[in-house]
Amino acid sequence: MSHVSDTEVDPSMQSIYVHGGKPISGTVRIGGAKNSALKLMAASILAPGVTRITNVPAIADVTIMSEVLRSLGADVHEGDHELTIDASGIDTFEAPYELVAQMRAAVDVLGPLLARFGRARVAMPGGCNIGARKLDLHMKGLGAMGVSFETDHGYIDAQVNGKLHGASITFDFPSVGATENVMMAAVRAEGHTTIDNAAREPEIADLANMLVEMGAKISGQGTPTIEVDGVDELHPVDHRTVGDRIEAGTYLVAGALMGGPLTTVGADPAHLTLALEKLRRMGVSVETGPQTITVSRTGDLQPCDIQTLPHPGFPTDLQAQFMVLAALAKGSSVITENVFENRFMFASELSRMGADVRIEGHHALINGVPKLEGAPVRSTDLRGGAALVLAGLAADGETVVSGVHHIDRGYEDYVGHLRALGADINRR
Ligand code: UD1
Repeated sequence: MSHVSDTEVDPSMQSIYVHGGKPISGTVRIGGAKNSALKLMAASILAPGVTRITNVPAIADVTIMSEVLRSLGADVHEGDHELTIDASGIDTFEAPYELVAQMRAAVDVLGPLLARFGRARVAMPGGCNIGARKLDLHMKGLGAMGVSFETDHGYIDAQVNGKLHGASITFDFPSVGATENVMMAAVRAEGHTTIDNAAREPEIADLANMLVEMGAKISGQGTPTIEVDGVDELHPVDHRTVGDRIEAGTYLVAGALMGGPLTTVGADPAHLTLALEKLRRMGVSVETGPQTITVSRTGDLQPCDIQTLPHPGFPTDLQAQFMVLAALAKGSSVITENVFENRFMFASELSRMGADVRIEGHHALINGVPKLEGAPVRSTDLRGGAALVLAGLAADGETVVSGVHHIDRGYEDYVGHLRALGADINRR
């Protein structure tokens, strides 16, 4: 555990200081996807033995997931952007409240624990500041496979009655977490499972690919229908985490905002098709290679009309960053949030910097302004916090972003990367 002396500020309590207006250009190397690494870690539960996961980002959420696995009895070793997880010693089936409360993705251990041990006890995540984020779809899917649920004292107690069996499941909504939990249970269930209206995010395909390497029989990953034939055992593997399309999208917005040219290396442009298309329509030049994306801009930013939707729709995790572009565009933009019911909280902080944003239900109406002004602002959530720093890059004067612990959940050395691209930014 890190020691914080009386004179040092606990890093999670620090603020980010940005002096706006500096050119931002150069190349930034993108890490492994947060939303994949956390699920690959959960999947290691399925195979007794040592799983090795590479290209793992050094972010707070990975540390929390390591703690979750350790609390179950796994041996987790953190190396340089890689993890070795020995799941042989797992002897506890409970994901405790202290950890689930910090990170909802901890509920991804539900499916693997049920598959391997027939039992799981997971704290209910409770309210989250970007919406209700219920677990009903997870429970409905697993319930169809023979799992019964009871709730007691804030925990969900899940138990397989007899044997876990395959089922035909159609989700009301293509939930990322529910698709993952059901898929990770189905790989060890007896018989065939069909998941219809499954989530199609690239991170789902990455998880399915790792499960296949482990010996699972899965097809259709990346499409709305995933088919799984249960197998008797899975074995540990080495797997490289897919690049983080949201981290890449965030830096590309920085380049689009300040003109660039800015290149990301390590994320697949095919995972960002719609976001790149929106950038082009906003007046940004975009060029792509196999794992590279370059943006640059000389003319005015044009307004946008964006609706967040499950993949391959526009990602809700880039909504806040694009609102910063819209705030400085020449004209009026509409951004509609369809995935989470309460994901505009950061907009009131952006308004404090001079943005003209009106929220009406799940629509944000943004009238572009010629400039933003630096101000003290507070991160309300991970992506909102990252977006406020982007706004600070473009704003006149100093922006001080507090609540940095939100940003640390999902961005490795955000300040260092932006400084290397030319930003006048520090953290203290
Ligand atoms: C994942 C991502 C998150 C991303 C989101 C949508 C991780 C760790 N997080 O979150 O970054 O923003 O996908 O792309 O991968 N819902 C229900 N009932 C359920 C499950 C979900 O109503 O049982 C609702 C949620 O409240 C939310 C919507 O469905 O409004 C999307 O949730 P889901 O796709 O499950 O997202 P997460 O897996 O939580």
